[in-house]
Amino acid sequence: SALHPLICALPKVEQHIHLEGALEPDLLFSLAAKHGIKLLADDAAFTSEQALRDRYLRFTSLDDFLGYYYIGMSVLRESVDFCELAWRYFQRAAKDGVRHAEVFFDPQAHLSRGIDYNTMLQGFVDAKKRAEDELHMSVNIIACFLRHLPVADSLAVFDNADVQASFRDGRVVGIGLDSSENDFPPVMFKEIYDKARDLNVRRTAHAGEEGPAQNIASALDNLGCQRIDHGLRLAEDPVLMKRVADEGFLLTLCPVSNILLRCVPSMKEVPIRKFLDAGVKFSLNSDDPAYFGAYILDTYCAVQEAHNLSVKDWETICTNGIQGSWCSDERKNELM
Ligand code: HPA
Ligand code: ZN
Repeated sequence: SALHPLICALPKVEQHIHLEGALEPDLLFSLAAKHGIKLLADDAAFTSEQALRDRYLRFTSLDDFLGYYYIGMSVLRESVDFCELAWRYFQRAAKDGVRHAEVFFDPQAHLSRGIDYNTMLQGFVDAKKRAEDELHMSVNIIACFLRHLPVADSLAVFDNADVQASFRDGRVVGIGLDSSENDFPPVMFKEIYDKARDLNVRRTAHAGEEGPAQNIASALDNLGCQRIDHGLRLAEDPVLMKRVADEGFLLTLCPVSNILLRCVPSMKEVPIRKFLDAGVKFSLNSDDPAYFGAYILDTYCAVQEAHNLSVKDWETICTNGIQGSWCSDERKNELM
């Protein structure tokens, strides 16, 4: 595209990236070796980096992906492992022009393996500090709850003293909700989101990825979400789409993820034009870049290839992303 240089130079924000989803096969295998972890011997995908990458091109659904995602992250054990993972992501993101990143992690996926909350968080905080100092990025950390686990488990984690301390001192600025969407509607997690609101903790949730547009309305109405992760299926509900546009909620779209997980047949069918025309605000994000083979610049280029956006469209996308970020007005002005 003639716009390629402009797209490279755009001041980007990334707001939907699971740090565990940035675990590239090479780091996965080296950490497995370091800790003497035997990856599933009965799955041929784990025989080599190439076999694993090939398997990643054949996901059949969100749950098929999640199986690999949870096995992959089992190699993360020490603080330095979490730090290395996040630092590699920040370096790559900075190269792609990301100046502000709001990154997810899944505490329960590590707590359930006996990893201490402060062990994982310290690694991420160390990498964040380094990205701020050396790459001049700003970084916010968001803790996600796993919707496939019992709600009581999420509540106990939310109430945990170490987790509460991380909200109070701002190491963690917000909460999210991820993992399998079907069978686990947002309203199940209302109690946690009510508590988060009382503590002034920011709130987002995955909704309308595999699940229906109704989950987007529920995330807004029942959970008091301040933005929506994915929101792909908003396009199926014109009335809700008008409401989201009128009220200015931002969607953190992840088009490459949606294609790889078969939520949409191809990039052309991601409703980018529809959202732009309806005034629905969205940012473009990588979701799980190591699993979907695309970081943020790859994602922007794939969108441009299919949708041939104008300079004005790109300015709208980047401005909305910046304005929808959970940073200070002062920082937003620096990013503009
Ligand atoms: N959806 C739900 N859960 C996730 C995702 C996703 O795209 N990525 C990592 N956890
Ligand atoms: Zn996600």
